[in-house]
Amino acid sequence: AFDISALRDQTGYVTLDRGYKNTGATQSAITFLDGEEGILRYRGYSIEDLASKASFLEVAYLLIYGELPTANQYETFSNGIRRHTLVNEDMRKIFDGFPVSAHPMCVLASLVSAMSAFYPDSYEGNKNPDLHIVRLLAKLPTLATWSYKRALGHPINYPKNQLDYIPNFLHMMFALPVEDYKVDPVVAEALNVLLILHADHEQNCSTSTVRLVGSSQANLYSSISAGISALWGPLHGGANQEVIEMLEDIKADGGDVGKYIDMAKNAKTTGFRLFGFGHRVYKNFDPRAKIIKKAADDVLAKLGVNDPVLEIAKGLEEAALNDPYFVQRKLYPNVDFYSGIIYRALGIPTNMFTVMFAIGRLPGWIAQWKEMREQKEPIGRPRQIYTGATLREFVPLEQR
Ligand code: ACO
Repeated sequence: AFDISALRDQTGYVTLDRGYKNTGATQSAITFLDGEEGILRYRGYSIEDLASKASFLEVAYLLIYGELPTANQYETFSNGIRRHTLVNEDMRKIFDGFPVSAHPMCVLASLVSAMSAFYPDSYEGNKNPDLHIVRLLAKLPTLATWSYKRALGHPINYPKNQLDYIPNFLHMMFALPVEDYKVDPVVAEALNVLLILHADHEQNCSTSTVRLVGSSQANLYSSISAGISALWGPLHGGANQEVIEMLEDIKADGGDVGKYIDMAKNAKTTGFRLFGFGHRVYKNFDPRAKIIKKAADDVLAKLGVNDPVLEIAKGLEEAALNDPYFVQRKLYPNVDFYSGIIYRALGIPTNMFTVMFAIGRLPGWIAQWKEMREQKEPIGRPRQIYTGATLREFVPLEQR
């Protein structure tokens, strides 16, 4: 029998809610999410509207400042970002110290953390908050593409600031010194949708991490770096890389989706989960997955790509949706299930998938950090239920 007195500490009763499944950590006016109805809205605007009508930087502005920008505000904001895309050359020395095989997510987290060293006004009294916001939005794509180029052994590309945000990212990723790189508008548009879909998702693991770290009044760069590390885990943003690797494994194994469904049904003994299935909050469908599934079909058709992995993904989804194990547990495809297929079609390598997620989620992290500071929230400090030994007598080393 559970002893309720274990929940009592000196100051009253403590709620035990492992994984914070039912604990609200804050009040927030940024993102509305209804997991039963599959509704997602940023600042009151539906995700469907934003994904089909807005640009990523408009959405970034909306999340961070609360309103869609006017034309003037948009110009000031996007021009500010354009002017800050270059990264201090001294950061290259840090970057050069990483092994070529380093995963881009750890390179990104480290370099973002290092940014506070280059901008000490970020921790000396949190001066110029808007400038740090612009710097982060501007430099994250530059840093992300560095890590990709390094893994290839290619020279890095400097930003081309006459280009817009997404074309500039694609230029830094894919342009080679020996040929003229032209951004494909289909690719840029698909990326715009993907980044918008990832831009915020209220108090998820990485966002809660950003808020928790920031609640100690740690600076913006350190807080965002912590968020990047949280995102990397395979149960969170890292799932998008795991999904495509799983789909490739199924293909290499003869394409028998039933075998993998059976393994996942025995997750407790096999330890195997279907990556890209299930969500802490969505228990009906993930509205982002719906948009992404359609986008995957469109992008592959427009680019003329015939990816057998897409067929495996569809087969897996259909089998899971008709299987009582998945139905009873309300396990549906999440945002990560189809995103990897689009990234692949766009030419983005597998180990960059979670980096793409980070670029998309950055405005949400910033908005949540800013809100947390403006609301003057107290330092985050959960309690615990102690289950260790009661007082013990110390035994000197020679007597043990
Ligand atoms: N495959 C097989 N079984 C699963 C899966 C899965 N993908 N997800 C959950 N289950 C089962 C669990 O074993 C558990 O079964 P039980 O009732 O018999 O004990 C039940 O469903 C509930 O699962 P929990 O882990 O308690 O659910 P929780 O809300 O804690 O976890 C999570 C949510 C982490 C997303 C989980 O569904 C998962 O691990 N999915 C795979 C990883 C993934 O795709 N992550 C990306 C999430 S979206 C994002 O971060 C952007």
